[in-house]
Amino acid sequence: MSMKDITSREDVEFLVQAFYGRIVKDDLIGFFFTDVAKIDLNLHLPKMYNFWESILLGNPVYEGQPMAKHFPINDIAAMEEKHFNRWLQVWERTVHENFEGHNAENAITRALNIARIMHHKMKSVR
Ligand code: HEM
Repeated sequence: MSMKDITSREDVEFLVQAFYGRIVKDDLIGFFFTDVAKIDLNLHLPKMYNFWESILLGNPVYEGQPMAKHFPINDIAAMEEKHFNRWLQVWERTVHENFEGHNAENAITRALNIARIMHHKMKSVR
């Protein structure tokens, strides 16, 4: 059965919700969200929707500093390669279970590139 691509805000919200449903319960990296940053999903999720809508749909609705937000987390608990790998693995699985197409592939590629840069920056400050 063929699946649709990520083409709307609704699709972005669905994807991000599915990803966070998994990531906050993840045995390796869930604690960054629940114990280290203690995120309020009601505040955090809309930022993630905006972030991915900007990247995937080209609507410049995200205003923020995604890199800067991760440094205080890394100060408390080191964000290491195994953590980035798990983040990417869960992201890729969630994308592929729900969508296929150009934007779906772009979601995976962009996450990989951002994760590489982020990890590189983390290593240089620890
Ligand atoms: C091990 C990997 C990662 C962990 C544990 C992690 C964890 C977190 C946490 C806990 C926050 C909330 C920070 C706060 O509000 O105080 C956050 C925010 C965010 N993360 Fe990550 N993250 C990871 C990787 C990534 C990657 C690869 C991306 C992009 C593809 C990303 C994009 C974002 C964005 C856009 C925000 C919101 C920033 C804002 O508030 O404007 N993260 N992350």
